[in-house]
Parts: sequence; C-alpha cells; structure tokens
Amino acid sequence: MGFKVAVVGATGNVGRVMLEILAERKFPADEVVALASRRSLGTEVSFGDAILKVKALEHQDFSDIDLCLMSAGSAVSKEWSPRIAAKGAVVIDNSSCWRYDADIPLVVPEVNADALSGFRNRGIIANPNCSTAQLVVVLKPLHDRARIKRAVVATYQSVSGAGKEAMDELSSQTKAIYTAGEIEMKKFPKRIAFNLIPHIDVFMEDGFTKEEWKMVAETKKILDPKIRLVATCVRVPVFVGHSEAVNIEFEEPITADEAREVLRRAPGCLVLDRREPGGYVTPYECAGEDATYVSRVREDPTVENGLVLWCVCDNLRKGAALNAVQIAETLIARKLISAKKKAA
Ligand SMILES: NC(=O)c1ccc[n+]([C@@H]2O[C@H](COP(=O)([O-])OP(=O)(O)OC[C@H]3O[C@@H](n4cnc5c(N)ncnc54)[C@H](OP(=O)(O)O)[C@@H]3O)[C@@H](O)[C@H]2O)c1
Repeated sequence: MGFKVAVVGATGNVGRVMLEILAERKFPADEVVALASRRSLGTEVSFGDAILKVKALEHQDFSDIDLCLMSAGSAVSKEWSPRIAAKGAVVIDNSSCWRYDADIPLVVPEVNADALSGFRNRGIIANPNCSTAQLVVVLKPLHDRARIKRAVVATYQSVSGAGKEAMDELSSQTKAIYTAGEIEMKKFPKRIAFNLIPHIDVFMEDGFTKEEWKMVAETKKILDPKIRLVATCVRVPVFVGHSEAVNIEFEEPITADEAREVLRRAPGCLVLDRREPGGYVTPYECAGEDATYVSRVREDPTVENGLVLWCVCDNLRKGAALNAVQIAETLIARKLISAKKKAA
C-alpha cells in the first residue's frame, strides 16, 4: 500500500517544488493532497502531469495522512504541526519553528540520517535553513577527513529564499528601473534590484542577524557542536540559487587536491573546479539541480591547515523541498514508517 501525503504551503515557492520533486522521484504515494490558506481554495497546482485543486489546511482531516510536508512558515507550523502529528501523520517541517528543540531531529540525510529515529518523540522532523543545508553537505566529508575547527562563511542568497512575494519584488523593481517607474519596497528594507542587502531575518542583540545565528546553531546540531562558525548572510538579486564563500580551518592537514577528491566521492556534492574563466558553477546554473556544486577549492596560506571554497545550490531544492522529500524517502527506506491502513 502506498502513502497518503499532504503538502502544506502547496502554492508557495517551496511547496510547488515539493510537488514537482515528489512526482519526479516517483515517490510511493497513492494520493497527494495540496493544502494552503483559505485564500488559495480551488487554485490549481501541478503534480507531474496531473493538476491538483488546492484545499484549505483547516478543512483537512489528517487521520488517514501518513506524511505531511509543511512549508507555510513558522506561525502555521507552530499551530498545526502538533495537531497533525497527534493524528499519527509524520510532519517534516521546513520552517524554523522546531529546529532548535532538543527532542526534534534536524536532518540532512547525507549528513545525519541516523538522527531520524528521534522523530518518534514528537512526530515532527525539522528541515534546516537553506543556507545550512548546502553548507553541511560540503562540510561533512571534509570534517570526517581532517576535523574542522572553525569556519567563516559569507552567503549570497537568492530572493526565492524569502518566498514568492520576494521574487515578485525583485521582478517589479527591475521592471520599474527600466521603465523609470516607481520602485516599491515591501518585502526587503532596501531596494534589491541591482543591489544587495547585508541583512536577512531580524537583528539579534549581539549584532548578528537571526539568519547568521541559524547557520551556527544548525551546523552544530547537525554536524558537530565543537565546530566554531561565523557567518555573514547577504541577499543578492538572483532569483534562485544560494552561493557561499567558505573559509575552513582544520585540525589536520588537507590539501586542495585531497579536498576535491573527498568531495567528489561525497553524497550530494559535485565538484566542478577548473582554474580558468567559467571553470566554476554559478547560481544560475545550479537552479533546477539537486547537487551542491563545489568550485574554487584552494589552500589558505594565512592559517595552518586552511582551505577556501565556493559552493552553490538550488535553495528551493536541496535547501528545502528536496531535503524534505529525501527525509521522507529515508524514513521509508529504513522502515521507520509504514502506510496507515485506509478505509476501503
Ligand atoms: N524558500 C526557501 O529557500 C526556503 C528554504 C528553507 C525553508 N523555507 C521555509 O519554508 C516555508 C515556506 O517558504 P516559501 O518560500 O515557500 O514561502 P511562500 O512562497 O511565501 O509560500 C508560503 C506558503 O504558505 C502558505 N500559507 C501561508 N499562510 C497559511 C495559512 N494560514 N494556512 C495554510 N497555508 C498558509 C501559502 O498559501 P497561500 O498561497 O494560500 O497564501 C503558501 O502556500 C517558510 O517557513 C520558509 O522559511 C524556505
């Protein structure tokens, strides 16, 4: 018997990609239900060759749902995840609502799939922030090889990471600039078109932003609490694809050639690193792809055992929807869940 899967936030950036990926990977679902707010009641969304009519979250009975992929923001998640889990559906949540709770697993399957068994605590599994997901996929194999002591990360994050309204804002500002129209700012605090903004999520007391804090807290929870990490998160006028420049200090020596070899063998990573114009991957090229691409690997002469690298990844896929679907696939592959008996 196949699974009955609900996608909450099915009209959003992440939800639409979730439906695309479930269909693409032939996820063993007998039925997929698309849910969003009441505003979207009756809206049509694609699921492979099929069209699904969106239903309102509050009208859904979750008692025969096996898996619920949530991507409707923290407030919706806070209210609904425990209610859905109480009906026996396993919730895989994309918001930041549950990520830091000690009894909720925060999982990137290539890195810490073993943590998944902890889903039984509360019936909820958290998906990391998009910028963390791609980072830990790259750091994990390097950490296994030479033990990371410290990492310094600068991100270049696309507007799709801030939802569909943010994409509309980049589009409309760009058009306004070409037509000498009025530039409206709703989602971002400064103009994003032909600009960049060194501020994502709210400011914290120590001057870091919440996005920067999330990268630190999540890397520690997923990979190793001993890793010291500091980040500067920047929004850039790119529609899809997050990029990161990463400086890493290791306990043990590791050359750039060794790092490339380790990364070539690592699950989820693809190395494209030729020292010539165009011999690296940009966000435009990684959009629609599943891998985290690593380029520009080089030794850092300013520290002992240091490397510098560049990585890019489709934030809507590995940064969100793909990771959630991989979590669901891993639960099934490890026989941690089975489909509920459905009424005939
Ligand atoms: N974008 C990324 O790269 C990324 C990466 C990791 C995690 N996330 C997280 O994933 C979540 C969704 O992000 P997104 O980029 O897809 O946002 P989005 O494009 O703004 O979409 C939000 C979705 O949530 C639904 N929604 C809002 N209020 C709701 C309610 N009261 N009840 C039911 N559904 C409701 C919306 O439905 P309507 O269309 O009906 O309003 C829409 O489907 C966020 O928590 C975000 O932090 C995003």
